[in-house]
Amino acid sequence: MSLKEEIKRVFKKKFQAEPIIIRSPGRINIIGEHTDYNEGFVLSAAIDKAAYIAASLRDDDEIHIVAMDLNEYFSVKLSDLKPVGDISWPNYILGSAAQFIKRGVKLPGFNIVLSSDVPIGAGLSSSAAVECATVFALNELLKTNIDRLAMVQMAQKAEHEYAGVMCGIMDQFASMMGKKDYVIKLDCRSLEYEYVPFKLERIKVLLLNTNVKHSLASSEYNTRRKECEMAVEWVRENVQGVNSLRNVNEEMLDKYVLPKDKLIDKRSRYVVQEIERLVEGCNDLQKGDLAELGKKMFATHDGLSKMYEVSCKELDWLVDKVRDYTNVIGARMMGGGFGGCTINLVKENAIEEFVASLKSAYEKEMELPLTWYVASIENGTEIIA
Ligand code: GLA
Repeated sequence: MSLKEEIKRVFKKKFQAEPIIIRSPGRINIIGEHTDYNEGFVLSAAIDKAAYIAASLRDDDEIHIVAMDLNEYFSVKLSDLKPVGDISWPNYILGSAAQFIKRGVKLPGFNIVLSSDVPIGAGLSSSAAVECATVFALNELLKTNIDRLAMVQMAQKAEHEYAGVMCGIMDQFASMMGKKDYVIKLDCRSLEYEYVPFKLERIKVLLLNTNVKHSLASSEYNTRRKECEMAVEWVRENVQGVNSLRNVNEEMLDKYVLPKDKLIDKRSRYVVQEIERLVEGCNDLQKGDLAELGKKMFATHDGLSKMYEVSCKELDWLVDKVRDYTNVIGARMMGGGFGGCTINLVKENAIEEFVASLKSAYEKEMELPLTWYVASIENGTEIIA
């Protein structure tokens, strides 16, 4: 039975109602990490792993949610809607529902069954997938006609307000706006975007999961944001019109940030370099020069590891190991950091042998399993039944 059929069966049994079913994917990001909240660019895409939500409205003011994979159940009255502390997963749904109320929509109770094959804690945005699926489902059921970009922003706010992570817009944007076989070059300042073809000849996107859960991620993430804001403030005291690191160059950092604080300089210099690197990397991709793009991915990893300091020994190990493999075009850690996956562009026919040799070495050295997925690029959030 497909996930779609299974979720529908569970829904009907539990709620005796006919649901709509929404699929909303996880995401990858080729290059441009920790740039979104600094008003830079990202080059991300939706993938074939997704969250699935079956949903229907209720006649009362209660929210009922079944997390099918966890075999857990949660319910709350709309009048008691607030972030929950002891378990995290309901927050993605509750936070998304709360956005409708904030827009002045009269929200009735609703039922949801959730299932997802986006691995949790792997840096593939399993939470954004659930948020986008929920916003999309409620928009359909309530016939509120909210456009996709506004739904992206609602899903992002759910993460800020209910999950407490002050994330940028990349994850929700990629999940909602993804297009099969294209990556999205998103300008996170203007929110203008361009679909760039990403159908590579005999090269695949291989994700290697360290299986280190990124538990440090949310507190350190918010700290990095503050460090970047500090740098902006110091430059702004001296240069007019600077609102974000997007407006800052390395000479400004030399003059106004480095003399004040080496750590803040290191953090913000990584971001300034990464914004530039993405623009060049995207040009490489459009010219078909994958070798150059690959080199930039390694450079991004080095910056994330040594300057932004959001890597961990397992991620570093995986990237270092593949540097000399001629079949690997580029590799780096992906997402917020402190665990999760590396993204690797690898020649298709080398994948099996490559993974087999890495897996045994990794598992021996790190005493953790190494799991892997070949990701294909798929459409964003959609109604499937
Ligand atoms: C997380 C956040 C994104 C982005 C990345 C780092 O995935 O949710 O907004 O900042 O980290 O690029």
